[in-house]
Amino acid sequence: MTSIENSILKGVNLTRRYGGFAALDNVSISLKPGEVRGLIGSNGAGKSTLMDALSGRGLTSGSVHLDGVDVTTMSPRERRRAGLARSFQKTSIFPDLSVEKQIRLSARAAEQDNADEVMEELSLTRLATRRAHDISYGEQRRLDLALALAGRPKVLLLDEPAAGLTVEESLKLASLLRDLAKRWGVTVLIVEHDMEVIFSICSHLTVLHLGKILAEGSPAEVRAMPQVITAYLGSTA
Ligand SMILES: Nc1ncnc2c1ncn2[C@@H]1O[C@H](COP(=O)(O)OP(=O)(O)O)[C@@H](O)[C@H]1O
Ligand SMILES: [Mg+2]
Repeated sequence: MTSIENSILKGVNLTRRYGGFAALDNVSISLKPGEVRGLIGSNGAGKSTLMDALSGRGLTSGSVHLDGVDVTTMSPRERRRAGLARSFQKTSIFPDLSVEKQIRLSARAAEQDNADEVMEELSLTRLATRRAHDISYGEQRRLDLALALAGRPKVLLLDEPAAGLTVEESLKLASLLRDLAKRWGVTVLIVEHDMEVIFSICSHLTVLHLGKILAEGSPAEVRAMPQVITAYLGSTA
């Protein structure tokens, strides 16, 4: 079912408070089916807090709708089954489990069985029996993406999936993600600090600043907005 506004994921008036401090202050966001949206903003802007709120962790007030269904009171596990997956800023890999075992567990959590397909798509098949601990850092980041993609989610929330990679490696991972998202019809919200990477995969950007939305638009539009340049892009624009 698709909602009237044709949004696959919608967060309405999302607020997260820590005591008197609002890490997320009445933020509304709406993703269209199939779009790859970049979420940017300086350190502490509230990006991870927004990802948490959308995935069912720590919402003080507001509501979340997935494909027309109100999922606000669903647990993270129930949302996963409903088609919302995420990766964390720090990897969610279990170091002692094999690559294949983890992907199977993750697919099972989404009540799907596409582990082989995911391994193939992310070039992890030849590493299937290796322990996550023993593969390279770049391969671990690919495994992390595989865990999120297992079960072919409708919507994927990625919090800095390329953290710690070189720009070249990040661009490779981004292009892999872009192609797969397009072929599978997965809608993506991605936090990434490297503008080259963001501009290479995102059709649309949302800029957060001090817990509020500062700007939204195409990469070219956002890049030209004075308030964005002042608050975030600074001299790199
Ligand atoms: N557990 C917490 N307790 C208090 N403040 C927190 C907590 N977690 C995050 N914050 C604050 O919330 C704000 C947003 O954090 P975060 O969402 O992690 O930012 P970003 O991901 O954009 O760097 C920051 O000011 C941060 O210090
Ligand atoms: Mg963060």
